[in-house]
Amino acid sequence: MSDRPKLRKAVFPVAGFGTRFLPATKAVPKEMITIVDRPVLQYVVDEAMEAGIEHFVFVTGRNKGVIEDYFDIQFELENTLKARNKKAELEILQSLRPMAGGSSFTRQQEALGLGHAVWCARDIVGNEPFALLLPDMLLKSEKGCLKGMVELYEKTGGNVVAVEACDPEMAFKYGIVGIGEELDGGFRITEMVEKPAPGTAPSNLFINGRYILQPEIFKLLETQERGAGDEIQLTDSMLKLAKNQPFYGYRFEGTSYDCGSKEGFVLANVSYALDRPDIRDKVGADLKAVLSQLS
Ligand code: G1P
Repeated sequence: MSDRPKLRKAVFPVAGFGTRFLPATKAVPKEMITIVDRPVLQYVVDEAMEAGIEHFVFVTGRNKGVIEDYFDIQFELENTLKARNKKAELEILQSLRPMAGGSSFTRQQEALGLGHAVWCARDIVGNEPFALLLPDMLLKSEKGCLKGMVELYEKTGGNVVAVEACDPEMAFKYGIVGIGEELDGGFRITEMVEKPAPGTAPSNLFINGRYILQPEIFKLLETQERGAGDEIQLTDSMLKLAKNQPFYGYRFEGTSYDCGSKEGFVLANVSYALDRPDIRDKVGADLKAVLSQLS
């Protein structure tokens, strides 16, 4: 058993407007758009559950009330399913729900950046380490990304971010880390830059949207000046935190889908559909036919 404080809470920033998915996001939060038959957000919550997270903190915004409803019991629906003896559907609903009292919701009142969204969760998280998962990024792998990070964290303590290699030309879109000493299961981070100007990135490893952070990050976020894109950037506070606390990189081995982009979202739908035994063969055969029309 590790003597690190157990990672119990995870924060999900879900306040974004989702402008890349208009008009759908005019009425439906982007986190509720489905990959096969589940909202994108459900996959990320599942990843957190697999890693042992017990409390789910959602930083929402206006017009996101449906997210809160989604994680609640829907009595009318469940009673109807019971009356119709729809056991499988009922089981799905019940297995996906956080425990009573196991979720919290707060609002980011203004879209001031990821750092600000995380800071909005400070009172709910309190003085303990927490996970942060960006729901745009779906990470598919045998062992969930956050679970792998928790295993590293149990050895190292400190702060851990998951990283993946990107095309160096694309580094300007992400937070990029500098690579220090290699460790069993990870490496020490020497540098972090949010959206580096072309040709200035310290490596091609980008932060892929999964973090384990110590609560001291909140104090730094409180006074954080605006950074790249005139937003309060989490990466800038992480860099400051890294001056006083160890920071580690965990190399994610799997496939990531950026569901914040149309291409990533469509690809994720195809990929997750092909994982479902009930629809796999039909989808696969039909896809082949569609693709054969491409020349
Ligand atoms: C955010 C983070 C960035 C990270 C990225 C992953 O950027 O600030 O460090 O690499 O998510 O998706 P955003 O996508 O909000 O611009």
